[in-house]
This record gives sequence, C-alpha cells and structure tokens, in this order.
Amino acid sequence: MDKIIIEGGVPLSGRVAISGAKNAALPILAATLLAPGVHCLSNVPPLADIRTFKKVLGLMGVQFEDGGHEGPPHRHDALVVDTSRLTGWMAPYEVVKTMRAAVLVLGPLVARMQQASVSLPGGCAIGARPIDQHLKGLEAMGTKITLNQGYVEAKVRRLKGADITLDTPTVTGTENLLMAASLAQGVTRLHNAAQEPEVTDLARFLTAMGARIDGIGSDTLTITGVEALTPAPYRIMPDRIEAGTYLAAAAITKGSVTIAGAPVGALSAVLEKFHEAGVRYKITDDTITLEPAGSLTGVDVKTRPYPGFPTDMQAQFMAVMALARGASVITETIFENRFMHVSELNRLGADITVSGNQAVVRGKKQLLGAPVMATDLRASASLVVAALAAQGTTEVHRVYHLDRGYANLVDKLTGLGARLRRAPA
Ligand code: EPU
Repeated sequence: MDKIIIEGGVPLSGRVAISGAKNAALPILAATLLAPGVHCLSNVPPLADIRTFKKVLGLMGVQFEDGGHEGPPHRHDALVVDTSRLTGWMAPYEVVKTMRAAVLVLGPLVARMQQASVSLPGGCAIGARPIDQHLKGLEAMGTKITLNQGYVEAKVRRLKGADITLDTPTVTGTENLLMAASLAQGVTRLHNAAQEPEVTDLARFLTAMGARIDGIGSDTLTITGVEALTPAPYRIMPDRIEAGTYLAAAAITKGSVTIAGAPVGALSAVLEKFHEAGVRYKITDDTITLEPAGSLTGVDVKTRPYPGFPTDMQAQFMAVMALARGASVITETIFENRFMHVSELNRLGADITVSGNQAVVRGKKQLLGAPVMATDLRASASLVVAALAAQGTTEVHRVYHLDRGYANLVDKLTGLGARLRRAPA
C-alpha cells in the first residue's frame, strides 16, 4: 500500500486541468446498460473507482475498448462500451462492499433484464447510507423486491410509471430511478429529486439516448418512458469536487493557480465560501484563476444538497479553515459520521473540536507535518491539502482512497510546483 510524502510550504502556481467527474461517470456507465449497442464515452477519468465499475459491468457481459494511453492526447479519456449482449444481472458482495456506487446497476438491470441481484451495501466510513429510497421507488414502479442472504433480489414483468416522493433527495437513488423510469411504461414523477449537477449530466446522457425527461436540474423530474434507448456519444462533465479540491490547495498555500476546464457554474456555493474567507479569484465559464491570498478569515459552513455547499468539499474546506484567522463552525448535515479527518488534521497541529454534527475550527498560524491516514476519499484529500501548507514533511498513508477519486493527483500537484512523491509504505 503506497503513501504520499509531501514537503509542505510551497505556494502552488501554474495551471491544472480538471478531469471528468467520477460521480457523473459512474451513473453514466451504469446507464449504458439500458441501451444495447456500442457506446462512445469521452472525458472518462482514469480512476480506481471507474476500473472497479468496469469490472462490475464486465460480470454482466459488457465489453470495453479503452481509448488507450498510446494514441493522441484527446483519445486518452475515451472509452468504448459494448452492451450488445448482457449475460448476467448480479453485483456481488465482493465489489459492492468496496464501492457502494455499484448499486447504480440496480435500476438499469431491472429496466433491461427485468431482474437484478445486487448485494446490499453495508455501512461505510462516513455513515450508515441505506438504499431504502432506491427500493421504495422501484417497488412503486411495480418491482418485487426481496432480501435474500444480504442480496436485494428485484424482479418485474414490466416497469410502470409511478408518482414517487423521495424522503430525502438521494443522489444515487434519484439516478437509479431516473434510469429505471426511462424504460418504464407510462409517466414517472419523481418529487424531491436530487439536483446535483451529476444527476443532470446523467439526465442529459439519457436524453441523448432518446429518453424523455422534463424538469432536468430541478427537484421534480417527469420521465415519460420509451420503448427503447439507443447509444449516443457523450462527453462526461468535469469534476466539480476535484476542481474545488485544487481551489482549496491553492488557497491554503496562498498560491496563484488557474484551474482549467472546471464546471464553474456548479461550484457557486463553494466559490462563495472561499470568497467570504478572503480568497480572490477571476472566473470565466470554465476557468478559475486564484490570486495569491492574503490572510484568510474563518467562515461558517453548513453542508446541504445541491445547490448548497457539498458534503464532498467539507473536509478540504475544513483544512483551509485550520489556517484561517478566527473560528469557523462547520456543520455536516448529509452524513452522520463525516468528521473522520478531524483527529488527523489535529495531528498536523490544527485545533478542531467536534460536538455532534458540528466542528469548531480555531485557526492556527501554522501546521506541522506528521504521518497521517484517513478512512475515506475526501478525508484523505483534506490531509493532502493541509500537508501542502504544513511545515516539514507529511506522509499520507492509505493512498488507495485518493486513487479512487483523484486522477493523476501527484503529477497534477507536481505540475503546480508542490514537492511530493509517492512511495511504498
Ligand atoms: N439516504 C437514505 N436512504 C436512501 C439513500 C440515502 O437515508 O435510500 C441518506 C444517506 O444515508 C445520506 C443522505 O441520504 O445520509 C444522502 O445520501 P445520498 O444517497 O445522496 O448519497 P449517495 O448517492 O450514496 C453520492 C455521492 C457521494 C456524495 C453524496 C452526497 C456518488 C457515486 N456518490 O452518494 O460521493 O457524498 O452523493 O452528495 O455519486 C464521494 O465522491 O466522495 C462521495 C462519497
């Protein structure tokens, strides 16, 4: 298991290009199951989670032809997905336990194969994360759901449109139901749907394949089922959380960085908070250019479903607040256990106390390098952000978390002048 060794204290400078969004690529890959044929996707990020998801789809008979890493640069992120012949409908425990997003095959499999057998994901490092809303929606569309030895067994003769109100605007739940409803008979109305940009990206891909969806980007999606979908080429949106993480890295090191190919519109809540904290930047439609920050001020943040401040940026923003002037109260409202980075940030010299779902960060003048490790992707990212500003050497262990969600992290940061390397632990 590798670690990343970071010598902190270098202001980042230069330009970094943002990769395709993990959380859009995963549902879009799942959605290819809906339309038999050959799909050409581009801007697919080179991530461990994508490789795992390809394995899951491989178990169902899906074949892949990568753009490869030999061809001209624009082909690097291309992926050809052949879903002509499906031979299976099962997502086993072994993969779902390592990647919860594998539950995204549930909706498409039920729609195309009229059945699915998907391991029920257990709890994970950041919370219990049930999938009751996914199941409730599929049941409303006529699916018979049973639980057998830890597996959700789903069967339906023909999905039927339904009126579904989600108890909570779950992201992957909305995506599963959107995919299922696209091939259902009749109209589905999905109320209290998640409005995350990745849901919108999936809806656009489905539309490109022939799905009929109204209300894209809003909290009410109306889907008129069609008989069949056909493959369509699609470019995956850039990763707003990756962009936000580089924003945090640039801000904490008081760097001057241009973040290129960023989904700027989808980052409004994050940009506003950085601005409130004293970070100055210029934006275009797809770039954010940070000016070297003066001293930063602690600001309060509460995570919310989109368009609110994303839970996936909470840990990285907290790292920045650890070096801001004054105090900051960070409230996590989406996941019940997403403060696992706090004790590790404190090992770097931060002053953070947690009470329930609130963390109080008292800004310090400096952080000091230390060995640290984290239990999830964004927590690991927050430790990298903090380490870039800490004095001395930080070793971030369990790098596989970062490999799941950050494309070429070490190369991208090195390109910005950071001193870091990967080494065997
Ligand atoms: N929830 C339920 N019942 C359900 C579904 C969700 O109670 O049936 C609860 C969850 O327990 C949680 C809240 O609703 O408290 C929100 O969970 P949601 O279902 O929206 O999360 P998710 O779909 O499992 C996606 C992202 C996460 C991101 C969250 C929130 C993907 C593949 N994952 O997860 O991304 O944090 O939405 O925005 O899209 C990450 O990339 O690091 C990551 C964890």
